[in-house]
Amino acid sequence: MLTAFLLFMLLFSWLALFVILSAFIGFILTRVPFVPTTAADVEFIVKKLGIKDNAVFYDLGSGDGRVAFLVEELSGAKVVGYELTWWTHLLAKIKKVFRRSKARFYNQNFFKHGWQEADYVYGYLYPPLMSRIEEKFLADCRPGSIAIIRDFPFPNLKPQDVYFMPKKHEIYIYRKV
Ligand SMILES: C[S@@+](CC[C@H](N)C(=O)[O-])C[C@H]1O[C@@H](n2cnc3c(N)ncnc32)[C@H](O)[C@@H]1O
Repeated sequence: MLTAFLLFMLLFSWLALFVILSAFIGFILTRVPFVPTTAADVEFIVKKLGIKDNAVFYDLGSGDGRVAFLVEELSGAKVVGYELTWWTHLLAKIKKVFRRSKARFYNQNFFKHGWQEADYVYGYLYPPLMSRIEEKFLADCRPGSIAIIRDFPFPNLKPQDVYFMPKKHEIYIYRKV
């Protein structure tokens, strides 16, 4: 009994250490902490934009995958997530198995990939990154593609729509012309 307890405590401390260390390194790499989008906001986005099953949806900084899974579940869209923080990425991969999801998750920097395939790019990130995201959206995405940005808008582009959500969150919609 004592051995089982000690084993459990050992495993638990390793897990806690992994989460804390990877959150710390993730923050050093990205300067963006993991703060999830609410399900209500994701539901609103899918409904308002009429995301369909033939669409490709990128979550830039996909965290534990909750946005990707919900978009997939509600719309049937093909979802792709890029995430640099190990523990959230690993959690997304584990959840993917249990949910039998077809979501694709990459433990990679989204700036190092082309976004040409995406019909929608979603970002809940941080102000210092937004000008680079704006430039990449304009450079990579096809005309007609849509950027959905939560709370921290692009510095230059004028949004097509802005939605004011509960708890003072905002959703900015940009369409590439
Ligand atoms: C505020 S969280 C949002 C998570 C998820 N998109 C959601 O809305 O629930 C932002 C995430 O972006 C990740 N991130 C920031 N910059 C990144 C980059 N260049 N490449 C991959 N992931 C990044 C962070 O590690 C963090 O987990």
